[in-house]
Amino acid sequence: MRGIVCEEIERFRLVDDLPEPARAPWEAVIAIKRIGICGTDLHAFKGRQPFFAYPRVLGHELAGVVEEIDPNEAGLQVGDRVSVIPYMHCGTCIACRGGKTNCCTAMKVLGVHIDGGMRERIAVPVTHLIATNDLTLDQAAALEPLAIGAHAVRRSGLASGETALVIGGGPIGLGVMALAKARGARVVAMDVNASRLAFCRDWARADATVNALEDPLGGVLAANGGELPSVVFDATGNARSMTDAFGYAAHGGRLVYVGLVGADISFHDPEFHKRELTLMGSRNATREDFERVLEALAAGGIDVGRYVTHRAALDDMIGRFETWLKPEAQVIKAMVEI
Ligand SMILES: NC(=O)c1ccc[n+]([C@@H]2O[C@H](COP(=O)([O-])OP(=O)(O)OC[C@H]3O[C@@H](n4cnc5c(N)ncnc54)[C@H](O)[C@@H]3O)[C@@H](O)[C@H]2O)c1
Ligand SMILES: [Zn+2]
Ligand SMILES: [Zn+2]
Repeated sequence: MRGIVCEEIERFRLVDDLPEPARAPWEAVIAIKRIGICGTDLHAFKGRQPFFAYPRVLGHELAGVVEEIDPNEAGLQVGDRVSVIPYMHCGTCIACRGGKTNCCTAMKVLGVHIDGGMRERIAVPVTHLIATNDLTLDQAAALEPLAIGAHAVRRSGLASGETALVIGGGPIGLGVMALAKARGARVVAMDVNASRLAFCRDWARADATVNALEDPLGGVLAANGGELPSVVFDATGNARSMTDAFGYAAHGGRLVYVGLVGADISFHDPEFHKRELTLMGSRNATREDFERVLEALAAGGIDVGRYVTHRAALDDMIGRFETWLKPEAQVIKAMVEI
């Protein structure tokens, strides 16, 4: 079968002799139709992904059609459209036992730690499928990046009527904003990029925006009636922003790191202490988070059509990929089609 292999840093190869997936009884074979591209793929290609081994088939934002499956509790059948939960957890570690399969100690993510779905077919456990017959293929592939936002929002305990500051209006931050709005919260978006802020207002229906390059603290206060927001999400992947974020959370508030950075973050303890701040990491997502995204999509508040800004057929992906890396391309989400 055909697929694209990332052979080494900055080298993809389109091949037509990838081995067919060998399906175990608890697995289904999925004919892949859409592969969303995200920062993780860009970092892997550029060699900036720590602990990444080549060659690797990328692709973890996956939608397709069931091609082979045994009778199963979920009632999934051949021909059903599905989305894939790409986080292969062990099921036995302390995190898994506690239901936190998203941060399994032995986590293997498709397309990151093990081969992913940038190929015609893949075998995945039936437990990692979500029925998406009511969605478009693009919506089904976008479930994963949006579920990252749903997980962060759920973790924060954000309530209807609360104000959330979301720093970083990339595909991940936009998902946080959209899911926070779906929860009934007010959203203040912060970014350094004015066109991203316009997209946050327009696409994610952010109630206010703050340019981090222009008096961010004053902007946050002005956007929230003179008070700091009780929940702050940082989805920038920028250490400076993650440090500054401590100063934007209200007393008694929560600060959620959705983005991650290969650096140490330090903070001034008196600021942390006097606020009695809760600092949280947020990693991946669980089935419950995917289901929240399904509900939000059904309610009509998330326009995946405009979230997907770029697309290419599998045959053209390699040539397009380099252009997607350029900031002037203004990619939010690129989608590969098979
Ligand atoms: N929690 C998870 O499991 C998970 C999953 C996928 C990605 N991520 C992480 O989420 C982060 C965001 O991912 P993305 O794909 O949206 O990234 P992105 O780079 O596309 O977007 C980041 C946004 O932050 C803005 N930004 C950068 N520095 C800033 C600053 N100092 N102040 C304000 N805004 C700033 C950028 O202009 C951009 O709009 C990354 O760190 C990524 O690794 C986390
Ligand atoms: Zn992704
Ligand atoms: Zn585990």
